Amino acid sequence: KGLKSLKDVYKDNFLTGTAISLRDLEGVRFELLKKHFNAVTAENAMKPSELQREKGNFTFDGADRLVNAAISAGMKVHGHTLVWHQQTPAWMNIKLDSGGNIVYLSREEALGNMRNHIRTVIEHFGDKVISWDVVNEAMSDNPSNPSDWRGSLRKSPWYYAIGEDYVEQAFLAAREVLDEHPEWDIKLYYNDYNLDNQNKALAVYNMVRELNEKYQKTHPGKLLIDGIGMQGHYSVNTNPKNVELSLKRFTELGVEVSISELDIRAGSNYQLTEKEANAQAYLYAQLFKIFREYSDSIARVTFWGMDDGTSWRAEESPLLFDRTLKAKPAYYAVADPDEFI
Ligand code: G3I
Repeated sequence: KGLKSLKDVYKDNFLTGTAISLRDLEGVRFELLKKHFNAVTAENAMKPSELQREKGNFTFDGADRLVNAAISAGMKVHGHTLVWHQQTPAWMNIKLDSGGNIVYLSREEALGNMRNHIRTVIEHFGDKVISWDVVNEAMSDNPSNPSDWRGSLRKSPWYYAIGEDYVEQAFLAAREVLDEHPEWDIKLYYNDYNLDNQNKALAVYNMVRELNEKYQKTHPGKLLIDGIGMQGHYSVNTNPKNVELSLKRFTELGVEVSISELDIRAGSNYQLTEKEANAQAYLYAQLFKIFREYSDSIARVTFWGMDDGTSWRAEESPLLFDRTLKAKPAYYAVADPDEFI
């Protein structure tokens, strides 16, 4: 078909990626994947509950199939995710006490569970991945005081079991493993959503800046956190100016930025009116003009899926291809943003 390849359109700007699952590794889906994308993120297969559902029993088969297929097709793989409060087995943070009550593990136990998961998983995949979401979605949605970012980490059981330094501890654990493998070049990311909200963006900015400044006191010139993943789960009401403001702010930190989970909710009930389809396309075009402008600090732009039919938000038709894998106006807007604006 005459469609431009998105990875070719943006090859001088950033990696163009998509979330994938095992179903994407065959037939027309794999053809679409190979045509447009040069980077992939496992949508679910590399999450804590998929890799270590029971303590000490690591199950890598599904993830290995995804990673090996992507690499054989010449794609880069981003690892998602090592530490999160969702899709994470309860045993990592809590247990039943003698009276049968649910209690948090001690700091020592929970830290041991976190460090073992991080070490085992990073060592398993090695430099088959170019980067990891070491911690995902730790920051509360609208921090009342962005300078007190530690006080905004309370949404995760890791916070209550380990303490307010659990994010720092996760990155220190990952960094320790990478320091044992200087031949690898793997970037360590903090990944979160709603970072177009300026309170949350400022809280994340403060956390990354403070943790990197503290780390550099003992490791001059090195970073603890290499990158920030802005998830990009947007809607047609998202203001691209806020996205740009946050991109600009994160760029000042000297870390790389990735748009890690881009989709734009536009419709309802699994369909888009023509007006909704055009509004969605227009915002995609606006965003890609901004991403192109910031491509010096953007490493990767990853769509959270290829087509509406398999999107986690299918009923809102957020992606570039429809459920018959036909290109939507949104695809043409990304392939040629200047045509749209
Ligand atoms: O694998 C089981 C299957 O065995 C079972 O039959 C089926 C029905 O219960 O569930 C399947 O697991 C589902 C899994 O996706 C794999 O399809 C889970 O129920 C479902 O909750 C899970 O949803 C994923 C969601 O994360 C869970 O938090 C979505 O696919 C995935 O797109 C979404 O991705 C997250 C990112 O990781 C982090 N950022 C937000 C983003 C959207 O929530």
